[in-house]
Amino acid sequence: MDFELKTLDALRASAEKCDALVVLVPEGFGPGQDPVSRLVTEAVKSGAFEPKPGKSLAAWRPEGVAAGRVLLAGVGDGSARRVQSAVASAVAGLRGAAVKKLAVLLPAGADARAVRAAVSAVSEASYVYVSTKSKPEGRAIAKVVVGVADAAACKADFAAARGAAHGIEFARELGNLPPNLATPTRLGEEARKLGKLGGFQVQVLGPKEVAKLGMGSFMAVAQGSEEPLRFIVLKYQGAAASEAPVVLVGKGITFDSGGISIKPAAEMDEMKFDMGGAASVLGTFRALADLKPKVNVIGLIPSCENLPSGRAFKPGDVVTSMSGQTIEVLNTDAEGRLILCDALTYAERFKPRAVVDIATLTGACVIALGSVRTGLFASDDALAQALADAGDQAMDLCWRLPLDDEYGEGLKTNFADVANVAGRPGGSITAAKFLQRFAGAYPWAHLDIAGTAWKGGAAKGATGRPVGLLVQWLLAQQGAAARPARATKPAKAAPSAKAAASAQAAKPRKAAAAR
Ligand code: BES
Ligand code: MN
Ligand code: ZN
Repeated sequence: MDFELKTLDALRASAEKCDALVVLVPEGFGPGQDPVSRLVTEAVKSGAFEPKPGKSLAAWRPEGVAAGRVLLAGVGDGSARRVQSAVASAVAGLRGAAVKKLAVLLPAGADARAVRAAVSAVSEASYVYVSTKSKPEGRAIAKVVVGVADAAACKADFAAARGAAHGIEFARELGNLPPNLATPTRLGEEARKLGKLGGFQVQVLGPKEVAKLGMGSFMAVAQGSEEPLRFIVLKYQGAAASEAPVVLVGKGITFDSGGISIKPAAEMDEMKFDMGGAASVLGTFRALADLKPKVNVIGLIPSCENLPSGRAFKPGDVVTSMSGQTIEVLNTDAEGRLILCDALTYAERFKPRAVVDIATLTGACVIALGSVRTGLFASDDALAQALADAGDQAMDLCWRLPLDDEYGEGLKTNFADVANVAGRPGGSITAAKFLQRFAGAYPWAHLDIAGTAWKGGAAKGATGRPVGLLVQWLLAQQGAAARPARATKPAKAAPSAKAAASAQAAKPRKAAAAR
């Protein structure tokens, strides 16, 4: 789908040749003498239409208007949220109609957020999954004109939204792929393709290399499956090589059965979405390929399946992570943190400015925040604020949850440095406390997207979240390295984790290393 930004008012929109024209009408709409304005005035006068949110009216070839059909959509105060929902329902209503070229006229007072909202809503509402349908009905809309009062003023925000939309769609398509196709190997191939597209470096490590790195925790999760694990490293360099990068770490469990601590059968198919974090990292790199911001970004994706088998890891096993910390596995279904912890240790080598991990980590986060906001955890207040702000700007919301040390108490065990689960209370926080033990060397944040990465029910499918948030945050990072550095307080676990690492050079178990 091709987006174009144009300077349009109601008069110019009347002359815009397209199959459908969506006119977003705010309260207090000031009509001109043109055909579109006349249509709005008459519709309001007759009572057929009101410029309120949720109200709309369709017209077929109104006089003097070049568009085939016109849809008036009320946006009330004209806020970004109203624009988003009006555009989303207008576009959803056009499904199945042969609309190839669509034009959307924003209210004259639309701000940057509203422009971004319009672009993302068109993309989101017109997306159709096609990959595994035998007779796919693809998306009809090929061209979208976004009309604003002053195109030059909105150019940068429009480009950002278009880039993010490509990334979001990429993440959705990958997330929706069935788990027999979206294997760790396939994720590696997709990363390589992205590297070619964007001209950045991609490395895909297999079992032998990962064993050499000493990622005993990651390997333990992978060992029950016939699919070989992959550790994917993407390196986008948009700024000077001397500039510290930000690192994005995405959970890439391509299917989570729970392992020996197996999940119930109902809705287990949805655990194909357990690579949503990985998909969001790849989607973000898809956007980087478009937008080429001046920032250095590393993507890390530990990817494997979590399956039961005669070779699978089991409750009671103690594994040695790359950091040197030993972990008692009390529940094999808490596998996400076991693959992420080794990636967080690997991230240290980049001396990053910040590390953000993204993971469909806990059912508890779905209970806490539902599907509206992503769970945000951070060891650094400024990083937390920057991510929350980016989420607001991109309308891809998150909400900060606490990391008090008391929440980590339940992870204590007699048989290793740490257990992989605590009790049920505060489950998403205890999971984050586990991760924090491995993220002491840099400012760190964790996004739990268990509730936001996909939708269930009739609209079942990946959402592409939080690509919008991440892209917005990375764009805001441009030049940040040049600004004076903040003093950051490393997490308490850092020195002990490091000491442990040097004391007992990480030796993964033989059986796992042999794979
Ligand atoms: N991938 C799941 C988390 C999940 C569950 C995401 C439901 C979305 C919906 C994760 O690997 C998991 O199984 N977590 C367990 C942790 C528990 C064993 C401590 C969970 O949340 O039940
Ligand atoms: Mn699990
Ligand atoms: Zn999982």
